[in-house]
Amino acid sequence: MSAARPSPIAAPPKSRAFDLAKSRADFPILKQTVHGKPLVYLDNAATSQKPQSVIDTLVRYYETENANIHRGVHALSQQATEEYEGARTAVRRFLNAASDKEIIFVRGATEGINLVASTYGRATIGQGDEIIITGMEHHSNIVPWQMLCREKGAKLRVIPITNEGELRMDEFERMLSKRTKLVSIVHISNSLGTINPVEKVIALAHSQGVPVLVDGAQSVPHMPIDVRKLDADFFVFSGHKVFGPTGIGVVYGKERHLEAMPPYQGGGDMIRSVTFEKTTYNDLPYKFEAGTPHIEGVIGLGAAIAYLNGMDRQAALAHEHDLLAYSTGRLSEIKGLRIIGRAKEKASLIAFVMDGAHPHDIGTILDSEGIAIRTGHHCTQPVMDRYGIPATARASFAFYNTREEVDALARGILKAREVLRS
Ligand SMILES: Cc1ncc(COP(=O)(O)O)c(C=O)c1O
Repeated sequence: MSAARPSPIAAPPKSRAFDLAKSRADFPILKQTVHGKPLVYLDNAATSQKPQSVIDTLVRYYETENANIHRGVHALSQQATEEYEGARTAVRRFLNAASDKEIIFVRGATEGINLVASTYGRATIGQGDEIIITGMEHHSNIVPWQMLCREKGAKLRVIPITNEGELRMDEFERMLSKRTKLVSIVHISNSLGTINPVEKVIALAHSQGVPVLVDGAQSVPHMPIDVRKLDADFFVFSGHKVFGPTGIGVVYGKERHLEAMPPYQGGGDMIRSVTFEKTTYNDLPYKFEAGTPHIEGVIGLGAAIAYLNGMDRQAALAHEHDLLAYSTGRLSEIKGLRIIGRAKEKASLIAFVMDGAHPHDIGTILDSEGIAIRTGHHCTQPVMDRYGIPATARASFAFYNTREEVDALARGILKAREVLRS
């Protein structure tokens, strides 16, 4: 394997305004030791840590507020409903959606894509139609479309990627045709870090009348999102990657699409009236939220958004960019290490392979140093195939990570190299 090329990343922007010590203090888990060493948590792309305010919100909810929402006449039910719907408004503002009706709560990005595939997809895609995705999708933005294509006799087409890990936009333009009925594209790749030009993809697709779903699982934690500016038809993300609880996620959909779509699941809350002969469905967004939802998850997500709104996000993002540039430089110095994913526009994530060392072994040795990274195919097996590798080691940063932690990572990798060579 060839030595790593120098970092393609320009000089990092300064992050003087960012109060790193304060941010770290907000996250109690970061104070821990693991195997007797201070925890260095670099697995943020898998799930992020939770600030005290989110943890407190969940505890407060259960201690003082727990009740089922909607239609309750008692005080607790009304309070829980208010908080639940307040969180919906917070999400709507966070994404700059036009209406609360466009915000649907689901379990996560995966369920969000499945919802769109099994409602919008089933209703609009037929024999001979085409759905376009990219060569860097998470399995959750591949498999639901494969299942739909098999059911409907449609075809899944894949935009190829370059060696750097960027989309072949020329190929995309060639692929778009009258047969294309949907484009579903990842905003930021979880295995390469690439920030895709989704605004351009959407503009091109719309010029042919084709709607676009954006998988924002990795972008929401790392950049402000404006679904109206993007002009996305659908946008999905998960709460747990954005400093909120697990088991909660969001589907944003343009109101006109959601109005036209059939419901996702049948049950309580999604109905207006039910007889044995006929059921009429509830208004948006409730039409898509059958059954008792993940109430505390929604309220916890609202708290996570409040936390993000309360910080200087631009400064935090500049700090993340600094971590990316710094880690790219530090890891590029390690002989035999090759960084996978060198897009010009990249989020704070660095994936690599190293001569003579399996990623799992690197991950295990780093763990013994208290350093948490992720190893494997990261639910993007086609990306591994593209690069002819079985797996990578991936360090992914959040705003609470530090340059010192990057130094610890580099030291840990050097140690792993020594151990695995001997
Ligand atoms: C790009 C991307 N899409 C979708 C998902 C699925 O998210 P979840 O497992 O929270 O549904 C992930 C999770 O890693 C991801 O990174």
